[in-house]
Amino acid sequence: MRFYSYLVKNHLPKIEYYSRFSPSPLSIKQFLEFGRDNACEKTSYMFLRKELPVRLANTMREVNLLPDKLLSQPSVKLVQKWYLQSFLELLEFENRKPEDPHDLNDFLEILIDIRNRHNDVVPTMAQGVIEYKEKFGFDPFVSSNIQYFLDRFYTNRISFRMLINQHTLLFGNDINPAHPKHIGSIDPNCNVAEVVTDAYETAKKVCEQYYPAAPDLKIEEFNAKAPKKPIQAVYVPSHLFHMLFELFKNAMRATNELHEGSEEGLPPIKAKVTLGKEDLSVKISDRGGGVPLRKIDRLFNYTYSTAPTPSLDSKRVPLAGFGHGLPISRLYARYFQGDLKLYSMEGVGTDAVIYLKALSSESFERLPVFNKSAWRHYQGGPGADDWSNPSKEPRDTSKYKSAFDALNSNRSKEKLMWNT
Ligand SMILES: Nc1ncnc2c1ncn2[C@@H]1O[C@H](COP(=O)(O)OP(=O)(O)OP(=O)(O)O)[C@@H](O)[C@H]1O
Ligand SMILES: [Mg+2]
Repeated sequence: MRFYSYLVKNHLPKIEYYSRFSPSPLSIKQFLEFGRDNACEKTSYMFLRKELPVRLANTMREVNLLPDKLLSQPSVKLVQKWYLQSFLELLEFENRKPEDPHDLNDFLEILIDIRNRHNDVVPTMAQGVIEYKEKFGFDPFVSSNIQYFLDRFYTNRISFRMLINQHTLLFGNDINPAHPKHIGSIDPNCNVAEVVTDAYETAKKVCEQYYPAAPDLKIEEFNAKAPKKPIQAVYVPSHLFHMLFELFKNAMRATNELHEGSEEGLPPIKAKVTLGKEDLSVKISDRGGGVPLRKIDRLFNYTYSTAPTPSLDSKRVPLAGFGHGLPISRLYARYFQGDLKLYSMEGVGTDAVIYLKALSSESFERLPVFNKSAWRHYQGGPGADDWSNPSKEPRDTSKYKSAFDALNSNRSKEKLMWNT
């Protein structure tokens, strides 16, 4: 890894330079209009050759604020190496004249390489976090910092892939013949109930590999804007599919765990799709016994799962076990200004609601920015509890703060430079 440190040091000024720019968030409407009316490869190239390094540099500086012991895990080092390599490849285009048509082709190929290189970022990073947790354990401060970091890091990755996909789908050869009306990865008339059914059917196949049956699905639509018309969204169907697939797997597992073998059979999962002036919402309701209120927030932690960790060698698609399903789905929802919330009634079941913006002009990318307040987040300790706690003494915050200080005390000079 010496060579890697040498490279980082060598390119630090560039990373710092690009990280001083904030990313430029785009709305779904802007993505759509650009792709539909005046898709110009050169314009996209000029935008991306600056915007992609900016987004990469913002996240690379934040990676470096993680505890040293996490950064030294081999999987985390590997992820850092991928980011640096992609950053350097993009810099090749920094000062090229856009007149040369070869550049456009080279750029397109580089983007495809970068996308492929980053395919396994999520499981590799997750591996690093698990290794760290097993070796050193998490105190609440480290745990909340890692949660904060992963939310931002994975959002950055979603946005990075969105930009790359739009460019390669619009200007490359990987046009999807099954969806000629899509603008890149966006479906201007995405039929939400169809995506719900697709995600359900796919989850059902996975569920049937683990349990004798899967619960049925009942869909209901309520279009308050145009009554009785099917609900359509201008959205990225693959994002919606991802969220729904995760929610269905969870609902199917909970239902089976509670009702498997019962005489009445499995209670169905209900999906309700609604459209108002501001929100397009999809509710997935199960009768899987629910979760107590005390635990609801925990379900969004990246390492929280009540299922055994699935074997990566298994040929079966895992139904559960990584603890990434809910937190990553919520990032997809939030990425375009929506959200994902769970409402549970213990003993009965859970409602999971995906909220999307009804208007594509309001669906702006929500992007992490590396700045002083992000930096401060990694430095400060948790505040003292300012509500009474019946079961515990008030937390001794100095303990956690000093544990984190100890982790950071042996930062190298190079890293201190990154922090400024
Ligand atoms: N509908 C539900 N009913 C009851 N418990 C649920 C429900 N959805 C999620 N949970 C609980 O929340 C935990 C975390 O869910 P999450 O989807 O994030 O991870 P997972 O399902 O364990 O693994 P994976 O990353 O494969 O999805 C689950 O292990 C389960 O205990
Ligand atoms: Mg899950």
